[in-house]
Amino acid sequence: MTTEKLTNETVIRTVSGDQHEIIRNIIKLYIPDGIECDPTYSKGVFYKGAGISQPKYKFDLFPQTGDTVLSTAEDLPLDDESLNSLMFDPPFMAGFTKPKPTGLMGKRFHGYPYVSHLWKWYDQCLVEFHRVLKKGGVLVFKCQDTVSSGKNWFSHVHIMNQALKAGFHPRDMFVLTAKARLIGANHSNQKHARKFHSYFWVFKKTKCYVDYTIDRHTEVRDPQPRKEK
Ligand SMILES: C[S@@+](CC[C@H](N)C(=O)[O-])C[C@H]1O[C@@H](n2cnc3c(N)ncnc32)[C@H](O)[C@@H]1O
Repeated sequence: MTTEKLTNETVIRTVSGDQHEIIRNIIKLYIPDGIECDPTYSKGVFYKGAGISQPKYKFDLFPQTGDTVLSTAEDLPLDDESLNSLMFDPPFMAGFTKPKPTGLMGKRFHGYPYVSHLWKWYDQCLVEFHRVLKKGGVLVFKCQDTVSSGKNWFSHVHIMNQALKAGFHPRDMFVLTAKARLIGANHSNQKHARKFHSYFWVFKKTKCYVDYTIDRHTEVRDPQPRKEK
């Protein structure tokens, strides 16, 4: 007889349809003192009515609350190694070409003209977050893959690779599922699956203790030259 259960409601799971549940679980597992800094605070929806305490430091390029300080995330007005934790929820789409955000999505998520620009900015932010976090500090990075010019850009993969380069260890990953999404007018000519999920990466500023060197593990070898018969 087994004592194991197929499901256990008290267990912390990787997948949820509720972002507040994910954030609470990340805090429970990795940041017991709560989130200290949010450089993309916006209106602070993450912390509203969800039993999640407000961060001490709130920044945004377009501050929307009286206590949010204007700053760009890749150049924070904070000392080296001064933070224990940081929550980052940057724009995930490219294609906005105006210098200032326009429209509903633009106002809320202000973006970059090309995905390559967006990713380059993510890279700069990762380096900056590594600078301001203490050793052992935790970075939560919310991200979503995106489609540009009909191509899938798997941002969560790029972010993990760059986080490794910046000196972080990928500690955990949560997937937020959506019940509904806006669907474009030409969806009848669908070329790829509409994304109904986003991610919360949890990175720790510490030596990476998983060997992600793919070449070292791969079974694929260069084919041996065939012997002539
Ligand atoms: C998805 S929203 C964040 C929503 C937020 N997590 C909340 O709970 O309300 C992204 C935010 O990033 C901000 N942003 C865009 N570019 C930025 C930059 N370079 N530096 C700092 N914030 C930036 C936008 O102004 C926007 O408020």
